[in-house]
Order: sequence, then C-alpha cells, then structure tokens
Amino acid sequence: MSDKSALEFDINESLAMQFGTPFVSFQLPDSEEINQGLAELILAEEKSDDEGRGIRSNVGGWQSRGNLITRSEPEIRTLKQWMETMVFNLLGALVRKDGTERTFTLLIDSWANVCRHGNYNIVHTHPNAMWSIVYYVTDGEPDKSIPYSGLLELLDPRESANYIQVPNTILDARFFIENRPGRMVLFPSWVKHMVHPLVGSGVRISIACNVNVVEEIKTSRPQDYEAGYSTAELRKSS
Ligand SMILES: [Fe+2]
Repeated sequence: MSDKSALEFDINESLAMQFGTPFVSFQLPDSEEINQGLAELILAEEKSDDEGRGIRSNVGGWQSRGNLITRSEPEIRTLKQWMETMVFNLLGALVRKDGTERTFTLLIDSWANVCRHGNYNIVHTHPNAMWSIVYYVTDGEPDKSIPYSGLLELLDPRESANYIQVPNTILDARFFIENRPGRMVLFPSWVKHMVHPLVGSGVRISIACNVNVVEEIKTSRPQDYEAGYSTAELRKSS
C-alpha cells in the first residue's frame, strides 16, 4: 500500500493569481538623444510658464499644463508613438481571444513633472482615466545612500493585502520603481501611488499621461449608437 501522506504535486499547476493588477515597465533603447531634447523643451516651458498647471499632488516642483503631447516637436511626436504603442500592446495582451477584430481609440492627456531636491508627490490616483503612464527623462541624480530618494511607489490596492506578513515575497504590498531615464511604466489610473522626496543634486524630469480607451462599437444597427461617443458634445466656458 502506498504512503498517501507523502503528497507530491506541482504547485504551479494548481496555483492561480486572481484579481491581478496589470503593470508594465519597459526600458527604451537608445533614448539619450530624445531625452536631451525633451529635457531642453520642458525646462524652457518651465521658465516661460512659471504657474504651469498649478499645485496638484506635487509638493514643490513644477507641472506643465496638459496636452503636452499635442506639441509638434519631433521628440514629443516620438514619445506619443511610444505611449500609444505601449497601450495598444497591453490591450492586445488583455483582451480575450475570440477571433473577433476590435478597434480601440485612445484619448490621451499628458503633462511634464519637474522635481528638484526636497520635492515629492503625495499619495494620489488619477481620476477619470483608465491607464496612466510615466516616462522618465532624467533621474535627478539621487543620492544613492538615501533610501527611496525620488522613487515612485505603487501601493497595493487591496487594503489588507499586507496582513499576511512573510518578508520578501510578492505579498509585500509596496512596489518601487527606479526613475531611470528612458524607462516607461504603465499602471491602472486607480492605483494609489506617490513619489518619495528627492535627495539629489539634479533635476528629475518625467512625463506623465492619462489614457482613456474607447472601443468602436460594431453592430448591425449603428443608428442605435449615433448619439454615443462620436457625436455627443458639450461645450461650456467659465
Ligand atoms: Fe501620479
């Protein structure tokens, strides 16, 4: 008779991670030249528009007004393409494959962030958006001897996830991203995040954007949707 207490099985065949949160990080190759161009135009914008878009989540530092990626400079146009490619690739990975062709349109708003020594961003989300992207132009030359200096931290959206305390596992409930120039990261806009105070001698520049995805509705009765995304419009001035 075999020993039934000696259970041998492959946990990977029985384990499923449900309710996961998509997160993408990609290091763009050969980005030095484009980063230099982006840094120059963002710092020039900061000089000419001291007010920017005002105080948001940032404590100190400066944020540009929105619609940054509608500008026509070649560096901005390239960055826009990179951001769009990242979202389209993510959508391609997320949609269930059922053989139907689907068409998505991206609505993007973007702005630049400039931080210097001591500046940081409080915990916040990006309301009214689906996906948020951050692209790092410069790192601010953080003092490596200071923990978390200038790091982006994402917080586990499940409030009690870190109730299970097993150190150094994927249940840590905190996730840090190093602001390396040329790195582009993407996460759902509802994920709480913050930027730790920069202790450094340089300027930390990033470009953020919010993306909403609109899917083209395919139907045999297109008139049912004529008052939908494509035609409804509200204009209001204050
Ligand atoms: Fe943010």
